[in-house]
Formats: sequence, C-alpha cells, structure tokens
Amino acid sequence: MNGPWVEKYRPQTLDEIVGQDHIIQRLKRYIEEGSMPNLMFTGPAGVGKTTTAIALAKAVLGDYWRQNFLELNASDARGIDTVRNNIKNFCRLKAVGSPFRIIFLDEVDNMTKDAQHALRREMEMYTKTSSFILSCNYSSKIIDPIQSRCAIFRFAPVKGRHVMERLNVIANAENLKVSSGAIESIVYFSEGDMRRAVNILQASSTVDDEITEESVHDVVSKAKPKDVRKIVNKALDGDFLGARDLLREVMLVQGTSGEDMVTQIYQEVSRMAMEDLIPVDVYIRLIESIGEYDYRIREGANPRIQLEALLTRFLLKTKAD
Ligand SMILES: Nc1ncnc2c1ncn2[C@@H]1O[C@H](COP(=O)(O)OP(=O)(O)O)[C@@H](O)[C@H]1O
Ligand SMILES: [Mg+2]
Repeated sequence: MNGPWVEKYRPQTLDEIVGQDHIIQRLKRYIEEGSMPNLMFTGPAGVGKTTTAIALAKAVLGDYWRQNFLELNASDARGIDTVRNNIKNFCRLKAVGSPFRIIFLDEVDNMTKDAQHALRREMEMYTKTSSFILSCNYSSKIIDPIQSRCAIFRFAPVKGRHVMERLNVIANAENLKVSSGAIESIVYFSEGDMRRAVNILQASSTVDDEITEESVHDVVSKAKPKDVRKIVNKALDGDFLGARDLLREVMLVQGTSGEDMVTQIYQEVSRMAMEDLIPVDVYIRLIESIGEYDYRIREGANPRIQLEALLTRFLLKTKAD
C-alpha cells in the first residue's frame, strides 16, 4: 500500500470534485473574473472543503499559486499567535506573478472569540492584497463580523450516487474487483463523508482479492443495514424474542458496539420513515425512545440490556396505535 488513498485521490481540479455542483459553479465565476472576495466554506467533515479551497486557489492564481497561497490550520498546536504571525509574514510580501494572494485558514471554528476578532482585523488590514478562505464545520461558531465579510458556501454531505461515482473511479484506477453490494455498504457506512468512504475502500482492499459486502463489514465491523432493518421490523411486528435473538447474533458476529448499534437503529428507523414504512407519529415516539436509550448507553449503562429494553419500546409504540 503506497500511502493513503484520500491523498492519492484528492481531486486536483474543481471538475474532479463530485457533488457540490452548485458551489463549484459559483466558484468558477471567480476564476473567470480573476478575483474573489473572502470566502467561508462550512459543512461536515470529509465533503471537500479543503480540497475545493486548494483547487480553487490553484485555478485562480495560475502558475504562481505556490508563491501566493498560504494554508494554515487555525487549531495549530503552537497557538493562535503562530497562526497570526504566519499571516502577517505572508501578507508583508508582495504578490508575485498574480494580482493578489490567497490565505486558506482551516478549522476556524476552533478559534476562540478573541482570536477571531484578531483575525477579523487582519482580514481588514490586508483586504486590498489578499483574499481569505475560511473553513469550518459550523458557521454559527464564527463571529458575525467575520461572517459578514465572507461569501458563505454551505457544503452538504456528499450524496450516495456521487460517493458511488468517486469510489468507482478509484476502484478502476486501482484495478480492484468490487461487488455492487460492497460499494453500497461503503456508501451506507460513510454517511456522506467522502474521506470515510475512501478510507473504508482502501482498508477493505487489503482484506480480500475481491471486495465484497462481507469484506467491507469486516473492516467497519458494524451491522449490515438489512440486518438492522430486520431487527426493527421484527420488534415493530411484535416479535420481541425474534428481534432480541437477531440483535444478539448481529452484535456478536459483527462485533458491533452498543453505541454503533443504537446509531444504526436510529438511521434505519429514519430511513423507514422516509420511505413511508412507518407513520410519522410512531416515528416521532420511536425517536424519543432511541434518544433516551442512546443517552443511557453513552452514560455507561449495560448496552445489551439497554438495547433489548429499547426493543420493548418498539412493541409498545405500535400497540399504542
Ligand atoms: N466532493 C468530493 N469529491 C471527491 N473527493 C472528495 C470530496 N470530498 C472529499 N473527498 C475526498 O476526501 C478527502 C478529504 O476531503 P477534504 O476536502 O479534506 O474534506 P473536508 O475539508 O471537507 O473535511 C479528499 O482527499 C478526497 O479524497
Ligand atoms: Mg478540511
């Protein structure tokens, strides 16, 4: 294995980035215009924020992008002063071969409010010569004066078909044999996080010659979605013992933790509600119970007892109707 695939297959251009079409289209206008305002990229992990920032900087700055691009992590262990000094030193230089420079500051939501105010002053000071791209998971953690100085781009979890599309590109490049069931489970487990999807694919590729649903499950050691659905259905049908036995089997065979199982029950129930397999009022009450048992398990109660107790709530919910 030669290095992590998430790096090997990090898209180098905006066109290689899957999903986020709306964002990419808007960003391409900056390339045409050869200038850009300060930008803020917000959204969950592994959806292409960092990748997009780098690809955009390369496209806007052209051949001289290296000299004119500074990438910093706001949660730098050496402290925010180091980050600010780096920005100052960089901004002191004149842009070479390009009318302006780009500073990419990753994980800005980890900065304290004070540090954010200092950053805002720097953004103002260098506004004529530099554009900032800030990236964060939650824009709500960023102070208003910074938000109002940025064009905000909200990155969504990557849709299943786009995750699939990218996984197939990588599988082809690596000459992998991957069953369609395997791809589907990677999509399921990655929950729109492309970094996770690529990591699971790479880890599974070392298990077997042909990647199957089983090799993927070996890697993530979580229950199969269809097994979880069976457990939920049995419980909803009033077959408590059947549901309980299947739950025990799945957890044993797959080595699923209590936390993972309750999360997967939650995902499966949500999916079933979306597919109109459970009425909304029942769904609401199930979520209430799942929330309660999730909390208990995370607080340290015996996961097996809690999960089985949760299944009894499923019986009662349907009976009440
Ligand atoms: N939209 C996407 N299209 C293609 N690959 C992606 C996408 N999003 C993430 N990746 C893959 O996941 C890795 C991590 O992406 P990254 O841009 O660092 O995510 P973020 O900054 O949103 O956490 C990239 O190296 C790339 O391999
Ligand atoms: Mg990132």
